[in-house]
Amino acid sequence: MAERLISEVLTPPDAALDHALRPGAFAEFTGQAKVRERLEIAVAAARQRGEALDHILLSGPPGLGKTTLAHILARAMGANLRTTSGPTIEKAADLAGLLTNLEAGDVLFIDEIHRLQKTVEEYLYPAMEDFKLDIIIDTGPNARSVRLNLPRFTLIGATTRAGLLTSPLLSRFPVRERLDYYATLHLQSILTRSAGLLRVEMDEEGALEIARRSRGTPRIANNLLRRVRDYAQVKGDGRITGEVADRALAMLEIDRHGLDEMDKRILETIIVKFGGGPVGVNSIAVAVGEEPDTLEEVYEPYLIMEGYLNRTPQGRVATELGCARLGLKPTRGGQDSLL
Ligand SMILES: Nc1ncnc2c1ncn2[C@@H]1O[C@H](COP(=O)(O)OP(=O)(O)O)[C@@H](O)[C@H]1O
Ligand SMILES: [Mg+2]
Repeated sequence: MAERLISEVLTPPDAALDHALRPGAFAEFTGQAKVRERLEIAVAAARQRGEALDHILLSGPPGLGKTTLAHILARAMGANLRTTSGPTIEKAADLAGLLTNLEAGDVLFIDEIHRLQKTVEEYLYPAMEDFKLDIIIDTGPNARSVRLNLPRFTLIGATTRAGLLTSPLLSRFPVRERLDYYATLHLQSILTRSAGLLRVEMDEEGALEIARRSRGTPRIANNLLRRVRDYAQVKGDGRITGEVADRALAMLEIDRHGLDEMDKRILETIIVKFGGGPVGVNSIAVAVGEEPDTLEEVYEPYLIMEGYLNRTPQGRVATELGCARLGLKPTRGGQDSLL
């Protein structure tokens, strides 16, 4: 499972870069206007009441700003942020340790919250709802359950796969926001801001050229910017123009339309193997070696938004545009064993 996203392969996630370019306040957070406005109101209201923020679930594909928003929210509340992630909380005791160390108003950020163990998750329910924690002390005949009061804290959960959350967990988040892919225009301004922070000279065309190939994703945009910057420095005078960006991205073999390897594999599978569709998502998943939920929540939204793929009641269908993009024609006699 190692060779996938542009964001993971061509440009491995760079924690230091992510951190350096991460907006620290709502005012610097570009795009997602409605989400931003609703969250700003939630913060303002909680502050006016002098209360902790309600629990918030942020969902959406990787690299769109979930972690960034968690930081912004905590900072806007003047609260401490504790960060952890679903898979690192192995036992209920780990969670108890985290929760009992919180202070009133603190924000606990659980990334990849869909990967919480079931047993751990169940401990979270009363903690979220009533700010209580039942812990078992001792073992054997001396074992007894003790109920602890927790301070009023805020849980911010992030997930790429909202569909995998259980309904009891989902229902305990009063605020749920889904982040969507960014318009080119917004990516352009994110890139312009990043170039400023990195002290790179870049014109509008340069930003546009990179924005277009960033798969609607700020993290990819920032990573590509870094690669283009290297190219401009070595092969030019350091300035990023449209032409320099185009040459750099061509050299890096970044798809002109922002498709990554998995996007292409999915489209190609539908077109070549399944005659253009309709084909069920499970069949595609088996063919490309990815989980159906990941296809549905991470890859398909982008392909659908760009008009390369349609979801129909009979299954997935590659559009003409999708075929044209890959320069492929549906193969007659392609079969879908599950339909
Ligand atoms: N709305 C935005 N405006 C500016 N930069 C953003 C925005 N959203 C994300 N970024 C940038 O993209 C990077 C990845 O965002 P992150 O919050 O880590 O995504 P996620 O947690 O959803 O995977 C961050 O370092 C940040 O620099
Ligand atoms: Mg994140």
